[in-house]
Amino acid sequence: VMKILVTGGAGFIGSHTCVELLEAGHDVVILDDLSNASGTVIDKIETITGKRPAFYQADAKDRTVLHEIFTAHRIDAVVHFAGFKAVGESCHIPLAYYRNNLDSTLALLEEMAQAGCTRFVFSSSATVYGPDNAIPYVETMPTYVATNPYGWTKVMIEQILRDYCTATPGFTAVLLRYFNPIGGHPSGLLGDDPNGIPNNLMPYIARVAAGQLDKLTIFGDDYPTPDGTCRRDYLHVVDLAKGHLKAIDYAMEHTGAEAFNLGTGHAVSVLELVNTFMEATGVNVPYVIGPRREGDLPQMWADTHKAETILGWKAEKTVADMCRASWNFVCSVKKQLCPVRNRNNKTAVSLRDGCFCCLHLVDPGGAVVRDRLPVHMGEQRDDRADAADDIEQRERHGKPELPVPRQGGHMLPLRQKDIERDDRVPQPALSEAGGPRQQCRADHAEALLCEQPQRNGAQQPGGARLATPLHN
Ligand code: WQD
Repeated sequence: VMKILVTGGAGFIGSHTCVELLEAGHDVVILDDLSNASGTVIDKIETITGKRPAFYQADAKDRTVLHEIFTAHRIDAVVHFAGFKAVGESCHIPLAYYRNNLDSTLALLEEMAQAGCTRFVFSSSATVYGPDNAIPYVETMPTYVATNPYGWTKVMIEQILRDYCTATPGFTAVLLRYFNPIGGHPSGLLGDDPNGIPNNLMPYIARVAAGQLDKLTIFGDDYPTPDGTCRRDYLHVVDLAKGHLKAIDYAMEHTGAEAFNLGTGHAVSVLELVNTFMEATGVNVPYVIGPRREGDLPQMWADTHKAETILGWKAEKTVADMCRASWNFVCSVKKQLCPVRNRNNKTAVSLRDGCFCCLHLVDPGGAVVRDRLPVHMGEQRDDRADAADDIEQRERHGKPELPVPRQGGHMLPLRQKDIERDDRVPQPALSEAGGPRQQCRADHAEALLCEQPQRNGAQQPGGARLATPLHN
């Protein structure tokens, strides 16, 4: 049994890796500032594994917190996910990307040196191969050209780790170059849940399927590929998480810096992914063809020989499994959001047009009682809590008008954990095996209206508890 520090452990890949580490019997310490993840993920990791990791909500650059962690825990290895990762955003705020991604890595390495911790697994990316290498990518290829500041931070950090290993006998750095991780945990509790409108393909497809976005735009169908759309090496996030366990085992037995591709070795086009999603879930995904996106390469996929022969790792799940897992996650999140009990137990907050943000109260007959609830982003948390209490008070005393959403204030998803789950809400029936298809579209959100039975005869607690928004 080892104790592993996972920075960014509340994130998409980090949370799935924590689940696999805990289920393999290891102890996990999570450091995450929750700038791009929800604290409810820690609860979900506990729900799935039955174990609650130690959790420090802090910036991975914070030396005081890092020192506290390495003093309080004997850390055997570090898996470093924490970092900014949006390609487009990195072009607009490069200094923030270099500062955050490089400083967090340097701070970690310095604290590890003080604590005598010598095993480091780094979340790198296929983007380090740049635009000029032949495909499929092989680990021995040169990685000296990136096409955006985000990619350059990965190239630079890999170089920092190689130099540090050269200067530090006994230190191990495993550089895991991810291709396109998608999907989610079979439970439906963990998945790719980006703030706002997704940049990446699969979360976008899933939200179109769920009716939260009206259609997918395919960025170009005039590429030199069989169907004209870009091809990528999509891999299931659970397979990717398992790859990290193999990387830690490798680090315990080896020293020096070593890069590994984590992909399936197969390329799938955008159109193939969309069609596979529709076949696997039975849900339509309307799409249009739009212009190319700046910076996209026509195709990339991994040569996986090294990971298979040296790490003993190979991706096992199919593209259909990945699609079902993504759909399952969006369904379960949506269901958690829909049935909010109101004072008279006869209404539920539902979703207008399938958008998480346009919430409204409806009566048992489905007529909209309160439209577009002003779930605002307040300057301070108490503003938002006040707004929620204000709405509840007005509901309780029957005051018809609700505060009109402030100009510039914008609607935000409700915080899942403040919403009571209605156990009677049909669970998404999809499973990896592709069980009966559970439609989960906006129009079904209305169907979530139900007579809320008095629980054990007791009066339900007072009015609708409209949660405060999820993210600042
Ligand atoms: C895949 C394909 C798009 C959205 C990026 C980063 C990479 C890694 C994974 C961090 C492309 C097309 C997309 C849409 C579309 N991230 N697409 N419509 O660009 O391969 O990789 O994410 O490590 O570093 O570069 O992934 O999912 O954004 O795009 O047609 O609405 O889907 O053009 O061909 P990408 P992606």
